[in-house]
Amino acid sequence: MAIRQILYAGDPRLRQKAKPVKQFGPALKALADDMLETMYAANGLGLAAPQIGVLQRLFVAYLPKDEEDPQSGKEFVLVNPQIVQASPESAEGVEGCLSMPSWYGRVARSEWVVVKAMNVHGKPIRVKAHGLLARVFQHEIDHLNGVLFVDHIRRPEDLWQELPKEEPEESTPEVVTAVAQPA
Ligand code: NI
Repeated sequence: MAIRQILYAGDPRLRQKAKPVKQFGPALKALADDMLETMYAANGLGLAAPQIGVLQRLFVAYLPKDEEDPQSGKEFVLVNPQIVQASPESAEGVEGCLSMPSWYGRVARSEWVVVKAMNVHGKPIRVKAHGLLARVFQHEIDHLNGVLFVDHIRRPEDLWQELPKEEPEESTPEVVTAVAQPA
């Protein structure tokens, strides 16, 4: 297993449509394992293959264990995923993306989705996801189509940046400096 490098917005590979996975076997399993390891190392809830420069249709997801959410604490590897049903109701929620560190936005997504996919061994699976997991699935499937969460944002106030707080420096003497005001 290895941690792969995550691509950042601006990289053209994040804007391409990924191709269906055709080959199931040890190489795909190794790729999925790397994606899981990369996602955990970056503290993400999901990671799609194009985010590590692999233009194939698969993603991984994991919600940290939460007693109130039975979908949490489970690893998902979805290959060639397709949304086959989606709730007509949508919900707004805050999203971030490992390919856009420090950026957050409010995005409307379907409250629940049914996703048809294959597992890493090529066995057909069907997952009904709701709430946060449904949001992650929709976000990751977007990545497979070259779409980023910012593409869904219509109002500037729905996108913002939160920079990590800097550690305060120890015992910095306070220096008062007269600053000329620009005219
Ligand atoms: Ni993302």
